[in-house]
Amino acid sequence: MRYNKFLKERISVREYKDKKIDDNLKENIKENINLIHKKCRDNNIKLSFLEDGNKIYEKLEGKAGYSGVMIKSPYYIGLEIKEKDYKTLISSAYFTESLITEIENLGLGTCWIDVNDVSDEIKKELFSSIHLKYLISIGYPKHKIKQMDSPKEFDYLGKRWIVGKRPAGSSPTSSRLSVEEIVYKEKWGNKIGTNELENRGLLDLFYYVRYTPSHLNKQPWRFILENNKIVLNTIEPKDKKNFIDLGIMMYYFENIAKEMGITGNWKLLDINSENVEDKDYIAIGEFKI
Ligand SMILES: Cc1cc2nc3c(=O)[nH]c(=O)nc-3n(C[C@H](O)[C@H](O)[C@H](O)COP(=O)(O)O)c2cc1C
Repeated sequence: MRYNKFLKERISVREYKDKKIDDNLKENIKENINLIHKKCRDNNIKLSFLEDGNKIYEKLEGKAGYSGVMIKSPYYIGLEIKEKDYKTLISSAYFTESLITEIENLGLGTCWIDVNDVSDEIKKELFSSIHLKYLISIGYPKHKIKQMDSPKEFDYLGKRWIVGKRPAGSSPTSSRLSVEEIVYKEKWGNKIGTNELENRGLLDLFYYVRYTPSHLNKQPWRFILENNKIVLNTIEPKDKKNFIDLGIMMYYFENIAKEMGITGNWKLLDINSENVEDKDYIAIGEFKI
């Protein structure tokens, strides 16, 4: 699998066939969850495969998701996050997205669902845990993803046209900020041209990571390109949900970079949480290049 192609083509699936998945696929997902728990080694983060999709949907309709619009699917993944510090939030999202990648490679569709506002009482009844913050819907997508053929739907990358795939009737919320809107040179707000990014061999990387999914499609990540490193910033750091989006982005960034021959990992910076409240943006990580 190529991560760049996968990310560009992945979409949030909100309608599913009423069809069970085979036991061997379920086993595969459960094994992946076990592997992720071993890799993640953080007791504050727990993933689980939830079989009773109908019961979960019925209880959460009107209560979970955007404005209470719950997504109906035959199964869900539950994500419990016990600590709200930013490192745990980032890590939980990084590992959950690695599971989502595996699940989508099995031919299934997924969508993140925000359950932060569901009452503790309902969470205890459904999940035996008040720490469940997100669900991931899982199932066979109801609609096919169709290959685009209109030039209008192509994306412009530097000097090249790239053919992409988006689904029929794809929602406008899937649009993304341009590379120039998310990458700055040396300091916050300082524009950088795509020619310079192309010369430094980084244009494709930023082009593709823009497709990372985010809550309400907020795309809170901003990059400052320095001589030998990329500094990752988040806008509106007081919104803790942005750290989930950043963790997802970091997962794709590292894997797409690796495919391009750029090896490295994000190093998280220490954040003094008292300083976060009144800031428009803060630096949260560095990637050496
Ligand atoms: C952390 C997170 C939470 C999300 N929560 C919801 C949700 O509650 N309901 C929903 O319909 N979509 C949800 N989404 C999906 C986003 O709206 C979607 O990723 C974004 O609009 C981009 O569209 P795309 O994934 O189809 O490219 C969530 C995505 C993320 C990453």
